[in-house]
Amino acid sequence: MLTGIYQNNPRFGEITKNLEQAIKTMEGIKVDLMVLPELFATGYQFTSISELEGLAEKIPDGPTCDALIRYARNNNLYIVFGIAEKDNGKFYNSAALVGPDGLAGLYRKSHLFYEEKLFFTPGDTGFNVYDIGSARVGIMICYDWWFPEAARTLALKGADVICHPANLVLTGCHRAMTTRSLENAVYSVTANRIGAEKRGNKSELRFTGKSQIADPKGEIILSLEASKEGIAVIDIDVERARDKAITSMNDRFYDRRPELYKII
Ligand code: ACM
Repeated sequence: MLTGIYQNNPRFGEITKNLEQAIKTMEGIKVDLMVLPELFATGYQFTSISELEGLAEKIPDGPTCDALIRYARNNNLYIVFGIAEKDNGKFYNSAALVGPDGLAGLYRKSHLFYEEKLFFTPGDTGFNVYDIGSARVGIMICYDWWFPEAARTLALKGADVICHPANLVLTGCHRAMTTRSLENAVYSVTANRIGAEKRGNKSELRFTGKSQIADPKGEIILSLEASKEGIAVIDIDVERARDKAITSMNDRFYDRRPELYKII
């Protein structure tokens, strides 16, 4: 399955421009599953609820979903992308999965990072897995990486590939996601952004780029640069994510002892 990562430096609030750039960058590239960063079209550092309200969209009826569904239909691929969602007076830091038949999945970020807590409602979707034909895909967003339960839940629900839109500002995630891949024998696809934002009187946030795909052995098989926009695609063998064996006598899932983990 041809799987891709897109890494951008969005201009805050300029949805149309950021969206057009993503579509233009994807054009002509053959890919089955493409992952875009968290909040890739709006930018990240909101300064007020009214600003967020002006940029958040309904899913799937807003312009970002609309354009990416059209692109997915015309080019026969699936796209996972981060988006500021509004629903029933609430705002979610969400990721949508769209494909040739329209909206195929929705994830609302469970673990909100830092000042996201001032603007977004914690997600209520839980961690779900979607069958796109060539793979079963799960979604988590950025800071969810601190919680191994997120990736484990997706893997136990049958995910072959964990799509991970991100706007990373802390170190550690790139390494941690190789471990999430290794311990669950899944592919993880982290699409991060680059650049910096310093809006209003807020402290500057610097985003770390280096979007990556890790394979079920925890090896990084594709990686972008720390401070350049880019796109890259690699062919992955989804079957490798369906073998959870460690040795002839050990299996990641059968060897678990959930009765001893009762505290969680
Ligand atoms: C983050 O969750 N965007 C750091």
